[in-house]
Amino acid sequence: MDFTSNKRPDDMERITTPELADAFIDEAVQAVRAQVGDGKVLLALSGGVDSSVVAALLIKAIGKQLTNVHVNHGLMRKGESEEVVEVFEKGMDANLVYVEASDRFLALLDGVEEPETKRKIIGNEFVNVFAEEAAKLEGIGFLGQGTIYPDILESEEGVKAHHNVGGLPEDLQFELVEPVKLLYKDEVRVVGKQLGLPASMVDRQPFPGPGLGVRCLGAITRDRLEALREADAIVREEIEAAGLDIWQYFCVVPDVRATGVRDGKRAFDWPVIIRCVNTVDAMTAEVPELEWPLMKKITARVLDEVPGVCRVAYDLTPKPIGTIEWE
Ligand code: XMP
Repeated sequence: MDFTSNKRPDDMERITTPELADAFIDEAVQAVRAQVGDGKVLLALSGGVDSSVVAALLIKAIGKQLTNVHVNHGLMRKGESEEVVEVFEKGMDANLVYVEASDRFLALLDGVEEPETKRKIIGNEFVNVFAEEAAKLEGIGFLGQGTIYPDILESEEGVKAHHNVGGLPEDLQFELVEPVKLLYKDEVRVVGKQLGLPASMVDRQPFPGPGLGVRCLGAITRDRLEALREADAIVREEIEAAGLDIWQYFCVVPDVRATGVRDGKRAFDWPVIIRCVNTVDAMTAEVPELEWPLMKKITARVLDEVPGVCRVAYDLTPKPIGTIEWE
């Protein structure tokens, strides 16, 4: 396999088995060592599937020559940043710089209502934090990236820029190391499992870069963000416990209150809206019919366990007309 090419060979076998994954891993490890030599590599490790698999692969190939930077922007799902530390720092003894930047992001987002502005602020600040951390490290020559084959195809078609860390300042232009760039998502998952990553990380559902920031609707407030994080964890836990195969499932918390009654007193709290979709390519999506007992169980748990929430709704909107995310 030619790791410098952006074209997947027509006859390349789909990586579907542990044996094929092992063969790929051996080849990729050799290619990374040949590219990097005794150089140092920096990787933005979000904890998503692609960056996690690249991290595990680079750790296997070059160990401590890799430095991972995990930026916790305060918009991660419950337990996600903790899992990054657990898996990579404790489990794989990797170099990991953990940046707790929640206050910074939330301060910049304070009062900002417009979704695209929120996305821009989060994206720009991510680059700022990452560049600051990179500047503190010495002798970095390479930047690892979790580019996968659909990213390359989409950027060729002009759908989106494929660089995961776009817009890094000029003085931080490193040579890219992109060992899974010819793989499809399902292959990346098989490789990740073979590298010893937990299923909770490798089989993770899609999660937008701006994270919970585009699910805490309107101007983000800490109380609604916390309610969203807790409700989201309950929805994930219950759907996974039910063994359902749903493409994406999450919550949003709007910025309008609803009236309720709790402990005999009037409440004026936030609603939680549950969003579940099935899709093949995210261009169109359908809403699965959840069983009533499951709906009722999720509702009861959210109302009982999440402070500040007095109402639960299920979003029945297919795409189109509704996009998958609310913002
Ligand atoms: P929409 O809302 O456009 O979402 O129907 C389609 C898919 O893309 C995900 N999504 C994003 N992913 N950065 C990402 O990496 C983003 O800013 C972003 N916005 C939406 C969404 O979760 C869904 O899977």
